[in-house]
Amino acid sequence: MTTIQERLASGKGKFTTLYPELGTAPVSYEDCVSPEWFQKERKAIFQQSWLCVGRVERLPRPGTFFTRELPNLASLVVTKAMDGTVHAFHNVCAHRGNKVVWQEHPKDECAGAARSFTCKYHGWRYDLEGKVNHVTNEQEFFDLPKSLLAMPHVHCEVFAGFIFVNLAESPKPIREFLGERILELEAYPFHLMTQRYGFKTRINGNWKLAIDSVCEWYHPPYVHGRFIDRDVSKAEKMVPPVDAYHYDLFAPHMLTSVPGPKPLPPREIGASGPIPRDQNDVYRVFRAGLFGPDDVPDIGPLPEFLNKGDIRFWGNDQFWLFPNLSVQIWARNYYITYMYWPESVDSHIYEIDMYFVPPATALDRLAQELTVDSTIEFAMQDVNTIEATHSALSTRAQKQFHLSDQELLIRQFHKVVRDTVNTVAEHDGGGSQ
Ligand code: FES
Ligand SMILES: [Fe+2]
Repeated sequence: MTTIQERLASGKGKFTTLYPELGTAPVSYEDCVSPEWFQKERKAIFQQSWLCVGRVERLPRPGTFFTRELPNLASLVVTKAMDGTVHAFHNVCAHRGNKVVWQEHPKDECAGAARSFTCKYHGWRYDLEGKVNHVTNEQEFFDLPKSLLAMPHVHCEVFAGFIFVNLAESPKPIREFLGERILELEAYPFHLMTQRYGFKTRINGNWKLAIDSVCEWYHPPYVHGRFIDRDVSKAEKMVPPVDAYHYDLFAPHMLTSVPGPKPLPPREIGASGPIPRDQNDVYRVFRAGLFGPDDVPDIGPLPEFLNKGDIRFWGNDQFWLFPNLSVQIWARNYYITYMYWPESVDSHIYEIDMYFVPPATALDRLAQELTVDSTIEFAMQDVNTIEATHSALSTRAQKQFHLSDQELLIRQFHKVVRDTVNTVAEHDGGGSQ
């Protein structure tokens, strides 16, 4: 056993008491049901933090672009300019405010390649950096400061192939915001995993409740029991014990590291075994499951920053990048990103993107598809619970909630949100909660 696992095996109060500032008292969930608090979060968190809007693979060459609708925050265009730099700007025309870049429907996101963008209203044109380069009937205007006109610029940085934007006027530098532990992610070969499967849905619940649901491994035998084993008492036994996990906090970000199944011996062609009719046999035939494809692609040695808890059969590391992105790196050489975009106090858009090394064979592809389907199925089971939790919390019939030791990240996450909101409120001279 590692030192961490020895410590974990020593009894109650194993993680939380390592962080005395968190306390162990019951918590309030008012922060998930209060519309006033939601408005404060929007201002203090989402308008100030670095937010991931996608991967660089979506911009394969100069002139490619995509748009992003960030609910209640901004409508953005992200481009790769002719010199290869990535830019972001608000999708708003300098003439009379029309949305410049859209295709089928103005509310839908779109992507493509262009040398310039033409506003559909009166034909003003913009270059790939968002600057006006053509005004229709320019001579009819009065003292037009053409060289200054643009779709308003948004701070944009690329880190480890993830494109981040920041809506603040003068944001903290991104590397400072990410901090030492997240900067280590640069050593991971994300660029090899270009096979993307993306999903998006609306969840009728507060965005933080969705994050809470992935921050602990206490719920799987119950929420996902029928998927793990129809017999809940067996499902309970199949989920590794608390002591098998590793948690780390490096505010405002955090990490969970979890065990997974033992690696399988290499495949012998045609050795999938007898096929009784139950779900597990789908996994055997397709050689894949919730923990990924059995045939693992070679991506070279894994960087040292992974599996810091030295878990013997390591499953994945999930890095939580404050406020709304999780990058989950799996032992079987693929990764998933989860993003949560609040729309209102009781709804948010949930995005899951799964990235694999491109499949070399049809079987590789099927294995990826089954991993994707299993992951989405698990995620959708969580969604029902999140919606049920939100509707129950909003009755306010219970006011205090009890978090166990393995719910440490939940305690931490809500504290970071609270502290961030209160710091901005104090700075603005407002009250705090
Ligand atoms: S609003 Fe864009 S050209 Fe008029
Ligand atoms: Fe879950």
